[in-house]
Amino acid sequence: MSYNLIMNSPFLLENQTEYKKWRDYKLAQYPISREKILIKFKNNDINNNKINLLKDSVTKYNFAMYEFDAKLTNESLKKFCSRLKLVNSVSNLLADEDDISNITNQNQSKEKSPNVEYIPYTNKQLNWHTDGYYYPLDSAIKSFLLHCEHPAQRGGENIILDHEIIYIYLRDHNPEFINILMQNDIMEIPGNKNIVGSHSVKGPVFYIDERNFLNMRFTSRQQNIIWKKNDTIKKIKDFIFSFIAEDNHYTFNLLLKENQGYLANNVLHKREEYVDGNNKRLLKRLRFSKRVE
Ligand SMILES: [Fe+2]
Repeated sequence: MSYNLIMNSPFLLENQTEYKKWRDYKLAQYPISREKILIKFKNNDINNNKINLLKDSVTKYNFAMYEFDAKLTNESLKKFCSRLKLVNSVSNLLADEDDISNITNQNQSKEKSPNVEYIPYTNKQLNWHTDGYYYPLDSAIKSFLLHCEHPAQRGGENIILDHEIIYIYLRDHNPEFINILMQNDIMEIPGNKNIVGSHSVKGPVFYIDERNFLNMRFTSRQQNIIWKKNDTIKKIKDFIFSFIAEDNHYTFNLLLKENQGYLANNVLHKREEYVDGNNKRLLKRLRFSKRVE
C-alpha cells in the first residue's frame, strides 16, 4: 500500500492503548436500540438533522436504518445517497443504467435470465458475506444501500454484524489471527471459467484503507474460495464461523418493510430465504467505493 497509516491507529497491533479505548467505546454501544437506529423521513423531507442522525448511527454501528413515508423513485433514491455523499456508485453487469440492482427472485421468470444462478437473485438463503468480496482492493465496495420496494410475503430477513465487532473478538482471542487475516494473499477467489478475461483475485480479509478505516472482505462460501495454506487458518475460520453462527448479542435482525432500507459500510450480512406473495420481493441495491462518514 502506498499510503501511511496514522501512527496511533487502533488497528495497529502494537497500539494496545488506542485499541482498548476504541474497543471499549464500540462495545459500550450494544445492545443496539431499534428506536435509535431507525431514522424516519416524513413527507420525504431529507433534512440535515436526519442525515446527521443516520451518520451518527453509521459511526457507531457501521450501518443505519431508514424509513420513508412514500415510495422513492430511482432518482430520489440516488438523491438521498448523494446527501450522504455517496455519489460514485459502482455498477455491475446486472445493474441498470442508474447503477441500481433490482434484487428479486428471477428463478420464476419465463425468460431465462443470465443471472439466474446467482443466489442474490433467487429466494434462497444468502449466507454471511461482505459485498464485492471478489473484487480487488483497488475497486473495493466500501458501502451499500438496500432499499425495500416490496417485502416478501414471508421471510427475507436481513441479519447484520458490524465487521469491527468480529475484528475485536478475533483480536482479543488471538492477535495473531488478525496478522494472518491482513495478509494480502490470504483469500483467493479463482477466475470464472465462463467469463472471458476473468482472473483470480487475491486479497486480505481485513485491511485498513487510505482513510485509516478498517474494512473486511469475507464470504462463508466454501466452494471456489482458496485460503492460503497456513497452520492457523482452519482455527481462524472455525472461530469466525462459530462467532457468526451464534445468535449473539451483536447481530441485528431486520425485516425491511416497504419504503424502508438500510445503508452500511459494507458490514457482514446475510439474508434468510423467503416466499413471495402476489407482489414479488424487490430490493433496490446501490454500491459505492466510498464509505458513509
Ligand atoms: Fe450482500
